[in-house]
Amino acid sequence: MSAPPSADVARILIVDDLPENLLALQALLSEDRVRVHTAQSGQEALSLLLEHEFALALLDVQMPGMSGFELAELIRGSSRTRHLPIVFVSAADRDQGYTFRGYENGAVDFLYKPLDAHAVRSKVRVFTELHAQSRELQRQLVELEAARAEQQRLVDALQQTQAELQRALKMRDEFMSMVSHELRTPLGVMSLEAIMRQQRLDRGDVAWFTPERLQAMVDKDTRQVRSMTRLIEDLLDIARLQHGRLSIRPQPTNLGDLAQRVVADFESQFQQGDRPVLLTLKAQPDIVGEWDDSRVAQVLVNLLSNALRYGEGKPVEVEAGLAEDGLARLAVRDQGMGIPAADQDRIFQQFERLPTAGRSPGMGLGLYISQQFVKAHGGRITVCSQPGQGACFEVLLPLTPR
Ligand SMILES: Nc1ncnc2c1ncn2[C@@H]1O[C@H](COP(=O)(O)OP(=O)(O)OP(=O)(O)O)[C@@H](O)[C@H]1O
Ligand SMILES: [Mg+2]
Repeated sequence: MSAPPSADVARILIVDDLPENLLALQALLSEDRVRVHTAQSGQEALSLLLEHEFALALLDVQMPGMSGFELAELIRGSSRTRHLPIVFVSAADRDQGYTFRGYENGAVDFLYKPLDAHAVRSKVRVFTELHAQSRELQRQLVELEAARAEQQRLVDALQQTQAELQRALKMRDEFMSMVSHELRTPLGVMSLEAIMRQQRLDRGDVAWFTPERLQAMVDKDTRQVRSMTRLIEDLLDIARLQHGRLSIRPQPTNLGDLAQRVVADFESQFQQGDRPVLLTLKAQPDIVGEWDDSRVAQVLVNLLSNALRYGEGKPVEVEAGLAEDGLARLAVRDQGMGIPAADQDRIFQQFERLPTAGRSPGMGLGLYISQQFVKAHGGRITVCSQPGQGACFEVLLPLTPR
């Protein structure tokens, strides 16, 4: 039979000043699942108590120096050994009157000399079995606690998943209503226009369609179609980004020419409305890099449309040049409402719009998409702004994609 694991062994401490008594008790108590430790004095017993956890202590009452009762008081006084059951071994006639105070009931007992082997064994067995039971209970408690902790962990994980799911569902709903709103507004305007034109045609009022009015109608339609097209392209880009399918096609591109082209395309939008907005370009010539020109142009378009939207009608300046560290630099500076420092990171995330954007059209996608395009080229985009003092967005691109 293999030896029992030490956790199953009950240690018993015997304290007696006479070696022959110790030997006799040790012989009496030694059995398979019991390990007997002996001490000849209270001091020795105390140091053994520091070393091991005991199921029971058998203390001789009459010992020179520290008596068994004094030793028990010390055992009782320490939190580590307070619950150790004690059996006093006493000369019946002399010690019987003594009542050991302060010790919990049941945790203390007496054996009287001369010792009866059977009585000693059965008494000790009661205590060691009790000890084994309490150890087992302790083990079950630990297991129970571990199971409870595991269960709690699972419940927490489940709750977290549920919260994430709800957030995702809410975001999807918000997204859908935002997209339909953004598409419905220009579509609503266009269909109303179409109805009104149809009514004039039905009345035979062809003279109303003067060349100027026709031109204005075409311009308006073009604007609505452009804004819807841009929205749908943004959504497609977002879907590509989410599936990691965004690819850039770098080819030799002249930065100044690109900026020139975009600014020229934008000119008409800056001239619309009651008061034209001043748009200027400062471009350094001959900066050529390996870039996907349609993506870089789109970044500039996004920054320019923001400057127009949030620039409060004040002048907007575009710069295309080289930065100190040899990177190509595109910058768009406006003098509008500006962006608080606390929001300057947030605006680059999807669907983030600031309260200052008010009821202006937009989904909060432009900067997110721009940043992704710039990153795809190995570059970075930063903003420098103070509320009320305009904003400057700066795009830095390595001459060849990293
Ligand atoms: N030049 C700027 N001045 C002040 N605030 C700005 C400026 N550019 C962007 N913002 C703020 O950052 C937010 C996010 O900009 P972003 O371009 O990503 O989205 P959007 O313009 O709201 O919508 P979208 O570009 O999708 O049409 C804007 O809603 C606005 O609150
Ligand atoms: Mg925008």
